[in-house]
Amino acid sequence: MPATISTPTNDTSKSAARLRRFLNCYWLRPENAFWMSLRSQALGAHSFEGPAIDLSCGDGVFSFLHAGGDFDCEFDVFQEVGSLDLVRDAFADMFDHTSDYYGPQIVERPNWKIDIGTDLKPNMLLKACALDFYDSLVEHDNNTPMPFENESFKTVHCNSAYWASNIELLMGEIARITQKGGRVLLSVKLDAIREYTQNAHKAILGQRWLDIIGRGRIESWPSLSDDETWKQRFKAAGLEIVSRTPFITRTHAYIWDIGLRPIAPLLVRMANNLTPETRREIKLDWIDLLEELLAPLNQASFDLCADEAEPAEVLYELTPA
Ligand SMILES: C[S@@+](CC[C@H](N)C(=O)[O-])C[C@H]1O[C@@H](n2cnc3c(N)ncnc32)[C@H](O)[C@@H]1O
Repeated sequence: MPATISTPTNDTSKSAARLRRFLNCYWLRPENAFWMSLRSQALGAHSFEGPAIDLSCGDGVFSFLHAGGDFDCEFDVFQEVGSLDLVRDAFADMFDHTSDYYGPQIVERPNWKIDIGTDLKPNMLLKACALDFYDSLVEHDNNTPMPFENESFKTVHCNSAYWASNIELLMGEIARITQKGGRVLLSVKLDAIREYTQNAHKAILGQRWLDIIGRGRIESWPSLSDDETWKQRFKAAGLEIVSRTPFITRTHAYIWDIGLRPIAPLLVRMANNLTPETRREIKLDWIDLLEELLAPLNQASFDLCADEAEPAEVLYELTPA
């Protein structure tokens, strides 16, 4: 089957509305909001035919929003967080936390669901459970064989494959659990992202500056690699490429690199110490402003440089060969 190169469709009002739904959830990290919104836009060309599985679903908010769900302004992912004091220097994951009070205020339910969600972190699965969007949730480490029969799923989605260190095993397992004629939807970051930083200016900025900006994120991605290596991995696992959709350019990645990452724990602490009324007022103004600021970035082809460059993230649609 010859692979096609697609460009995500860009219906402006639809993508603006999508960005706003992502901003509502991720407002204190606007650079993540636009990235996830573009990821969802690329994914929008594909259906999640059941039985479907979402590997490394996290708290499920991305897939819930992707499927058309929406939350009240009262909800965002920054309310149920922990270890804020350890985020900066110990690289703790503030989202790996939950409590009995976690109850996302849903105003719009997606009109489809996903059969199974998996993740390494039990707290994330508890959060995903609160969405009632997955029929079942399974704690699973992608570096180990999956507890599913051969050819169990028609759709296998994963946007976190490069977090696994045993990537050959993960790819083989993905191929094994996918039905013949089924689809694997993989959003993968590419190695080029390492270059879309200020690292080249270390002599002026200093290592500490780069560390504060970087916060160890590249080190969390042991299987980050170039496009050719991803293609070889798919082939070795017996997966054929049906389509390839680049959706994050070098300019997106440069903007994301700086973003609000270093001050996010402080912003979260500040926002969570406001009265609910003041938090809501500021959040709505913040989202209005960011919606305008991010509007030009909100398309897969946005790039301020004239020459060609590798994308930073690509959506692959694969099928068992
Ligand atoms: C960036 S988050 C993405 C979560 C979700 N898919 C989303 O789009 O919001 C990466 C997720 O991968 C999970 N993860 C990291 N290492 C993993 C592993 N070895 N096995 C399974 N999940 C893992 C983390 O717990 C986290 O939920």
